[in-house]
Amino acid sequence: MGKQLDRREFLALTGAGMAGWALSGAHGQEHAGAGQNGAMYTFAAVADPHLSENREGELTGAEKFRRVLGAIETLDPAPEFMLMLGDIHPTVLEVLLPEASLPIHAVAGNHESKEGRELLRSLFPDDFQGKDYYAFTHRDDLYIAMCNAAHVDHVGHFETETNTPSVGQCEWIEEQLARRDKFNRVILFGHIPPDPELRPNGMCLGQNDGRWLAQKVQDTQPTALFFGHRHHRVWFDIAGVPVYGMRSCNWNFNNEPVGFGHVFAGSNGLDVRFIETGEEA
Ligand SMILES: [Fe+2]
Ligand SMILES: [Fe+2]
Repeated sequence: MGKQLDRREFLALTGAGMAGWALSGAHGQEHAGAGQNGAMYTFAAVADPHLSENREGELTGAEKFRRVLGAIETLDPAPEFMLMLGDIHPTVLEVLLPEASLPIHAVAGNHESKEGRELLRSLFPDDFQGKDYYAFTHRDDLYIAMCNAAHVDHVGHFETETNTPSVGQCEWIEEQLARRDKFNRVILFGHIPPDPELRPNGMCLGQNDGRWLAQKVQDTQPTALFFGHRHHRVWFDIAGVPVYGMRSCNWNFNNEPVGFGHVFAGSNGLDVRFIETGEEA
């Protein structure tokens, strides 16, 4: 666990653009042959935009998200889509959506009310198809979008009355993970992560849900998991599978910088680089 984390941490500190791509390839040959088999692409992982939350003396939440969209425009290789990891405030996203130059795949966070989830589903009808959780494929890979946040509850739940439908998601996730062998990579994403040690944690998945998810991850060995919610960087492994708890692009605890993940899907797993989008001091 430690060795892998250290290397990923190093890669997260490498420069933007092709320099970072080339450098990551030079350390561990993550991308050897990726260009030949067409498996190489990148995507953006954006957490907790809190689009209607405007902090005194700072850019508005909407402007901070515009900085994310602007930074994405400069990345090389260009991200092919964005995962939006909850706490979105969909009424503002509806206004900003025409400014996004790449497809967005979103999940609700605990800030999204039942009405907010309804609006979110209406913004991305092809993904949601009437439910708050869904799966999509990209190239040879499967992405599983989990809705594990109840409205106004910092503890995560797979089953809650504010989810549509309120129950049944765990069985659906099992069905998706049963398809593991049909895909090159399988990536799960949601809003609230499990606690790294699966202990009771008021900012993580409820303990039983966390234990269940960890067991599924151990049994099926997906490629990686992405979450938001904690507003600071929390990266760890479950049975060797990397879990990326991403910083918010609006505000973070511990004075950690705002930004998003530029994720490189190479021939041998993922590399995640953090792209800062805060104002220069
Ligand atoms: Fe949040
Ligand atoms: Fe949250």
